[in-house]
Amino acid sequence: MDIFRIEGPVRLSGTVSVNGSKNAALPIMAAAILAPGKSVLRGAPRLSDISVFGQLLVDIGCKVTTAANGDITIDSTSIGKPVGEYDIVRKMRAGICILGPLLARCGKAQVSMPGGCAIGYRPVDIHIRGLRELGVQIDLENGYIVADATKGLRGREIFLGGPFGSTVLGTANVMMAATLAKGTTVIESAACEPEVTDLANCLNKMGAKITGIGSPRLIIEGVKQLKPFEYDVIPDRIEAGTFMAAAAITKGCLHIQNCRLGDLMAVVDKLRNIGVTVEAENSGCIVACSGHVRPTDITTQPYPGFPTDLQAQFMALLALAEGNSIIIEKIFPDRFMHVAELARMAADLRKEGAAVIVSGVKKLVAAPVMASDLRASAALVIAALAAEGTTIINRVYHIDRGYEKIEERLNPVGAKITREGDGSV
Ligand code: EPU
Repeated sequence: MDIFRIEGPVRLSGTVSVNGSKNAALPIMAAAILAPGKSVLRGAPRLSDISVFGQLLVDIGCKVTTAANGDITIDSTSIGKPVGEYDIVRKMRAGICILGPLLARCGKAQVSMPGGCAIGYRPVDIHIRGLRELGVQIDLENGYIVADATKGLRGREIFLGGPFGSTVLGTANVMMAATLAKGTTVIESAACEPEVTDLANCLNKMGAKITGIGSPRLIIEGVKQLKPFEYDVIPDRIEAGTFMAAAAITKGCLHIQNCRLGDLMAVVDKLRNIGVTVEAENSGCIVACSGHVRPTDITTQPYPGFPTDLQAQFMALLALAEGNSIIIEKIFPDRFMHVAELARMAADLRKEGAAVIVSGVKKLVAAPVMASDLRASAALVIAALAAEGTTIINRVYHIDRGYEKIEERLNPVGAKITREGDGSV
């Protein structure tokens, strides 16, 4: 298992470029199932989650190849086994989003219930509810969702809201199934995340008829068939936000290329609010910070609110603010695995239910820490860049799921990160 040895404190300065979005790429890969033939996804990041999703597609009968330039070709001419096996889906929850496309394409599908997750209980009841509304018969057997749409999918008005707001992959699943349903589907309380918008744009390129894209009311007029796509995925807003936090905590200055500021307005607003400069620049922005950041309050919310996927990284940043901040997690109330690890680095944190009170300290101190999930590990990297001494981060494979070779991208701008180990997970 690889570890990171990170020396701090450092000041980041220079240019970094953001990769394609993992969370947009995954459901778009699933969309390839909808249209027999060869689809090509351009600009996807080279991440373990992307290759695991590729394995899932291969397992159901697709041929998946990745070219030297990173383009992923998915040949879905034949789907031999519309089954998302437990052994693959348990590694990556996004596997659930093959369910809608498989039903639309094959009329039947079985997909394993995803199971436990480091960021808390993550049910899929809304996915199931939405698909049932489209006429799918669904039973749970042996830990699998066993779904039958052989009587045909029919368009309906569907409310997809849940106790924590909208659902990103639930919207993706129902929207993909509805593209080939008979009649018109209206999804109320649809997720508005840029990744859902990107999927909808790709589906329309395939011949789907979706309007209301980017709004909580998606209207999907069913069509008889779709054609394979060639599509460029959007830049990863969460990676961009992570680089922003890294620039701010190191009192550095980063030119972040390939970053759509419009996807990050809540984050940019928070940064400006705490004294960090963010200026648009060509296809990206310049983020600079010259002194201590001011404390603030952050509440995570569905888009366009502050993203839960940046909560941990901003907790690391606010750990060094001049005063007390409060962070409230409204999407995944148990997503606080990083709290205990950041506390090992001398952050002053008090958890109260789904909130954490962050009392700013003068300095963070290096320590051996454990990566627990993707974004929690990113927070540890950010803290380590600013901490005094050498931080050792164990279980780096978590960070590799969402950030492509982060050390090779941050070292040229001033980080001192060494990877050690044999690459095993
Ligand atoms: N929820 C339900 N029932 C459902 C589905 C969701 O109650 O059937 C709840 C969840 O438990 C949560 C809330 O609704 O409280 C929102 O969950 P959502 O379904 O939107 O999450 P997701 O689609 O499973 C995606 C991202 C996550 C990101 C969330 C929220 C992908 C592959 N994953 O998950 O990304 O945190 O949306 O924005 O797109 C990450 O990249 O680190 C990551 C975890």
